[in-house]
Amino acid sequence: MTASGSDPLHSSNQNQLGRTFSHEPVMLKEVLDTFASLREGLFVDATVGGGGHAEALLTDSANRNLLGLDRDLAAVLATRKRLRDFDNRIEIVHCRFDEISGLSQLAEVELSGALFDLGVSSHQLDTADRGFSYRLDSELDMRMDTSAALDAYQVVNNYSERELASIIRAYSDERFAGRIAAAIISQRPISSTLELADVVRGAVPAAARRTGRHPAMRTFQAIRIEVNSELDLIKPALNQIIERLRPGGRIVVLSYHSGEDRIVKQVLREAADGLCVCPSTLPCICGSEPNVKLLRRKVTRPSTDEVNRNPRSASARFRAAERLSAGEA
Ligand SMILES: C[S@@+](CC[C@H](N)C(=O)[O-])C[C@H]1O[C@@H](n2cnc3c(N)ncnc32)[C@H](O)[C@@H]1O
Repeated sequence: MTASGSDPLHSSNQNQLGRTFSHEPVMLKEVLDTFASLREGLFVDATVGGGGHAEALLTDSANRNLLGLDRDLAAVLATRKRLRDFDNRIEIVHCRFDEISGLSQLAEVELSGALFDLGVSSHQLDTADRGFSYRLDSELDMRMDTSAALDAYQVVNNYSERELASIIRAYSDERFAGRIAAAIISQRPISSTLELADVVRGAVPAAARRTGRHPAMRTFQAIRIEVNSELDLIKPALNQIIERLRPGGRIVVLSYHSGEDRIVKQVLREAADGLCVCPSTLPCICGSEPNVKLLRRKVTRPSTDEVNRNPRSASARFRAAERLSAGEA
């Protein structure tokens, strides 16, 4: 983990510092409403990104402090700058959110709230040299942490056809995963985002190319998830945070595709059921203790107004839970 203040400054990150970091916070009203009763104490924004949600949480109550985390150094540096007016109430740390248990800032405190806004930021998508976008020409990169070892070039050019088909299918529900994997293998080496987008487009049947979405969108999402091990980190991170919430403290998670949401739903359900092993038709006799209550049984989606205003919010799925005190069920 790289702690606040000791971040190695990569030259590629330095290049990004001059750019405006723009990302419209998704389902902001729902996030603020969920935390409205929690006017004070420490909040963790586990995916601080451009700091939009963080700024709103700090503005909404002068008695909240916030620890923001991000694995992307460009986001950390830009957000420290953006939120400098809240200097005495925030700390922004460069780390992955599954490293929470190693953070000294959280050793002795109970949290009032925690927010996970999963996935990729608009800034990452719109910065060509990060290699996340099928529309902008760049080397194949897609690393959220630019010091990480695995990048998209290695996934695209070194994985077997079977491995490629499997990640494309699993991480994006792409119907043509097998055909796309075979096309990638036959066209290797592939070194740029636009080359990869062309290969994927060529592998998808003509009729499926006319659905409105870019034919490479799903494949890019799947490769990005693989490069950043995104799905593997969600469960440990959510469990670590739930353990640190004070009774009455709340967690909000925004996810952006079904694979992410399945994990979030399962972790929150398990925390709400206390991992009870009794048949659902009988009263619980196994002695398991629920940790949280779900604030909404069903997933909440953004309003039509929000989607019209910010089309990138369209796939958002909102879930929230509240920590129970011991013995409360
Ligand atoms: C959707 S953006 C967050 C935007 C933010 N809520 C805002 O209002 O600007 C997601 C951010 O989470 C970061 N991220 C994704 N996975 C992460 C992880 N495992 N640990 C820490 N940060 C992560 C990404 O680098 C990205 O900056």
